[in-house]
Amino acid sequence: DRRRRGRLLDLHREVTAYYHHLLLTSPDAAHARDYLKSRGFGKEMAERWQIGWAPPPNIFVPWAKAQGMRGRDLVDSGIALQKEQGGLYFRFRDRLMFPLRNDYGDVIGFSGRQLREDPRSGKYINSPETALFKKSNVLFALDRARKGILKEKTVLLCEGQMDAIACHEQGIESAIAGLGTAFTPQHARTLKRYTKNAILCFDADSAGITASERSFRELSTVGVAVRVIQLPAGEDPDSYMQKHGVEAFRGLLDKAVNYFDFRIEQALANNALSGPQEKATFTQECAQLLAVIHDDVTRDAMIQHVATRLRLGAQELTSAVNQAKRK
Ligand code: UTP
Ligand code: MN
Ligand code: MN
Ligand code: MN
Ligand code: MN
Repeated sequence: DRRRRGRLLDLHREVTAYYHHLLLTSPDAAHARDYLKSRGFGKEMAERWQIGWAPPPNIFVPWAKAQGMRGRDLVDSGIALQKEQGGLYFRFRDRLMFPLRNDYGDVIGFSGRQLREDPRSGKYINSPETALFKKSNVLFALDRARKGILKEKTVLLCEGQMDAIACHEQGIESAIAGLGTAFTPQHARTLKRYTKNAILCFDADSAGITASERSFRELSTVGVAVRVIQLPAGEDPDSYMQKHGVEAFRGLLDKAVNYFDFRIEQALANNALSGPQEKATFTQECAQLLAVIHDDVTRDAMIQHVATRLRLGAQELTSAVNQAKRK
């Protein structure tokens, strides 16, 4: 109910401020400050994003008690888990904390990054589903990017929050990020309220390629046109800008190609169009993807374009697409 939500929002606001304060001032967080610096973050940048540090429980618990926070609220917020044998287990320990916000800018959850590589748990851990945090409709930095998206008439969709932050800090204010979770129909509908154009800036690795197809499908289904930028292998927008600067990145944005051209370039690079069998397989793949385009005019235009590039008859490709649509 409303009062319960209000309490959880208050708790998130207080914890965000506390984590942030610790990151900037605690002697125990010196290693977190070093890490932040190594990622190119200055103090102002940490302030703008309210980045924080989640301390170990022996520091957190006395503070939470002094605030009068109740165990139940900590559990309901996802910050702690109830242990079977009683007591609380804290989800975020010694992590760099990124507040996750709703459209109004209220903190509704956290994403915590490991400060040292440790394969026993994930590089990032996010809040679980709670009364406030529904991961299928949260997009990182959307609250800040709204204006930029409307101005540019395009959204830049990145994979990681570090990428979205790096873009904003470099003046590219239409950037947002998923949270490593799959891009959902709900995400697509949310974005469509702001724009009908998206540029995918995913990592140039196999996870990024898979994620970009998923995003293309969801966005096309609701009628958002999708273009893609191509980063050098192994890079993401953050690492690319660290190495080559924002102007080089803007150059890549200017050269963003529509999603089908991206697939065709990739197929050519992978020799996936070298013989008739390969070409037939790739054509079927394209037909599947063309079939999800929402609007008839756009779909027909794209079919025409793909047919020309693959040197196929538009009729043949159209019937392959129609067949794919029936499936
Ligand atoms: P990446 O592995 O590309 O991370 O995963 P990144 O954003 O480049 O992070 P840095 O630069 O190493 O700090 C992309 C996104 O997938 C999610 C996170 O949201 C991350 O930003 N992810 C990744 C997880 O949720 N858990 C993980 O263990 C790893
Ligand atoms: Mn990646
Ligand atoms: Mn490079
Ligand atoms: Mn990445
Ligand atoms: Mn990265």
